[in-house]
Amino acid sequence: MNIILFGPPGAGKGTQAKKLVDFYGIPQISTGDILRANVRAETELGLAAKAFMDRGDLVPDEVLIGIIKNRLNEPDCTKGFILDGYPRTLPQANALGVILEEIEKPIDIILNFEVPDEELVERTSGRLMCKCGASYHKTFNPPKKAGICDICGAEVYQRADDTEEAVKNRLEVYKKQTQPLIDYYKETGILVTLDGTKDINEVFEGIKGILTKFA
Ligand code: AP5
Ligand code: MG
Repeated sequence: MNIILFGPPGAGKGTQAKKLVDFYGIPQISTGDILRANVRAETELGLAAKAFMDRGDLVPDEVLIGIIKNRLNEPDCTKGFILDGYPRTLPQANALGVILEEIEKPIDIILNFEVPDEELVERTSGRLMCKCGASYHKTFNPPKKAGICDICGAEVYQRADDTEEAVKNRLEVYKKQTQPLIDYYKETGILVTLDGTKDINEVFEGIKGILTKFA
C-alpha cells in the first residue's frame, strides 16, 4: 500500500500517519521529521534547511527530491510507504512520478485532509512534539503523562515553526505552492478528500474504511 497524506499544516497528517504505521506496519516518510532530525544533529543539510523552516518557507526542491529518492530506495519501503509532507510543489510531484516509475511502486491513494484555517491555527499553536515524531495537543490530544511522550518517554516541546507568524506564512505557502497539486492529482483519479475536523479516532476509522480495498 503506497499512500500520500496531503493537506495544510496542522491538518493531522502526522497524527494519522503514526496510527497507520501501527495498523498496517508500513513506514511513515515525513520530510518534516527528516529535516528536523537533521537540524537537531546540525548536519550540513540541517544547517541549510533551518532558516527556511523557522520562517515557514519551503526548503528548496532539489534538497527534498534527493531526500525522498534515497528514502524510497530503502528496503523497508518494499511493502509500502506513507508519504507525509511530500510532495509540496509541482517539481516535487513530477520527480516523485519518475522515482516511483523507476522502482515500480505506483501511488495507490492520496488522502487529502480538509480543515478550516482557524482550526489549523488552534491546532498548531497548541501542538506538542516529540523528537521521535509523535505529535500531541495541549487540549485535543495531551500525552498521558504531562510533558512526556507516550511512545518513547522523551520530553515533548513546541516546534520552532509553530509561532503565530510562521504558521501564518506556512498557510500562505501551502495555498500558493502546494494546494495547486490537488488539481494535478485529481486528474489521476486516486485523490480522496476527507473531513479532517472530526475527532482523531473518527478520522482514522474513515481512513481504514477507505483503505480496506488495498490491504
Ligand atoms: P512539516 O513537518 O511537514 O509540517 P506541515 O506540513 O506544516 O504540517 P504539520 O506537521 O504542521 O501538520 P500535520 O498535518 O502533520 O499535523 P499533526 O498531525 O501534527 O514541515 C515542516 C517544514 O519542513 C515546512 O514548513 C518546510 O520548511 C519543510 N518541509 C517539509 N517537507 C517539505 C517539502 N516536501 N518541501 C519543502 N519543504 C519541506 O497535527 C497538528 C496538531 O493538531 C497536533 O497538535 C495534533 O495533536 C492535533 N490534531 C491532529 N488531528 C486532530 C483532530 N482530528 N482533531 C483535533 N486535533 C487534532
Ligand atoms: Mg506533520
